[in-house]
Amino acid sequence: MSSPQKPSSDSPRHLLLGVCGGIAAYKAADLCSQAVKAGFHVRVVMTPSATRFVGPLTFEALTGHPVMVDALATGHGSDGVSAIEHIAWAKWAHVACVAPLTASTLGKLACGLADDALSTVWMALPDGVPSLLCPAMNTAMWDNPVVRRNVRWLDELGRYTWVDPTSKRLACGDVGVGGLAEVPDILEAIRAAVAP
Ligand SMILES: Cc1cc2nc3c(=O)[nH]c(=O)nc-3n(C[C@H](O)[C@H](O)[C@H](O)COP(=O)(O)O)c2cc1C
Repeated sequence: MSSPQKPSSDSPRHLLLGVCGGIAAYKAADLCSQAVKAGFHVRVVMTPSATRFVGPLTFEALTGHPVMVDALATGHGSDGVSAIEHIAWAKWAHVACVAPLTASTLGKLACGLADDALSTVWMALPDGVPSLLCPAMNTAMWDNPVVRRNVRWLDELGRYTWVDPTSKRLACGDVGVGGLAEVPDILEAIRAAVAP
């Protein structure tokens, strides 16, 4: 098994940011911007659904790097990255974070499905790369027994750190747990994950 890259203490940290198709996807742009300002090199992987909420161009402008949406895309070996993009991107990461994480992608990660770019890259993350999950969904979805079970299954793997959803008035008008954690709290969790 390949081991994750070890950054030297003064080199920029590589953040792989996964964005799913939830209403909180627009907040991922703020997270991305804040992470870049904090000195991270950021690459973004979006699900096809996520691109319906926020355009990849936003993240490309913020990161200065193409966004990966197509699981079957191949690269051209530029900047030392191999043509097998999902493996190369996974190896590039010092820390990975999915924000927002939808119920659907949470289920894919729990069940080992890899049928889009995000779930494929996350499947390829080397063991030892800190991986944060920031769910956001309607309270009924979060409380759904199948989502609860999928959360337990992911916990059992011991590979993921949750940045828990908050209780608030949600976009759908319901009040309850399911709001994306605050961006500064997610950024702090990312920083903590790569702290020496
Ligand atoms: C307006 C709108 C908002 C949505 N918000 C969420 C959400 O916050 N969380 C969630 O899990 N699903 C949400 N969904 C449903 C997802 O978009 C849907 O399950 C989609 O298949 C998720 O795909 P992905 O996980 O590949 O991004 C929303 C759908 C719509 C139309």
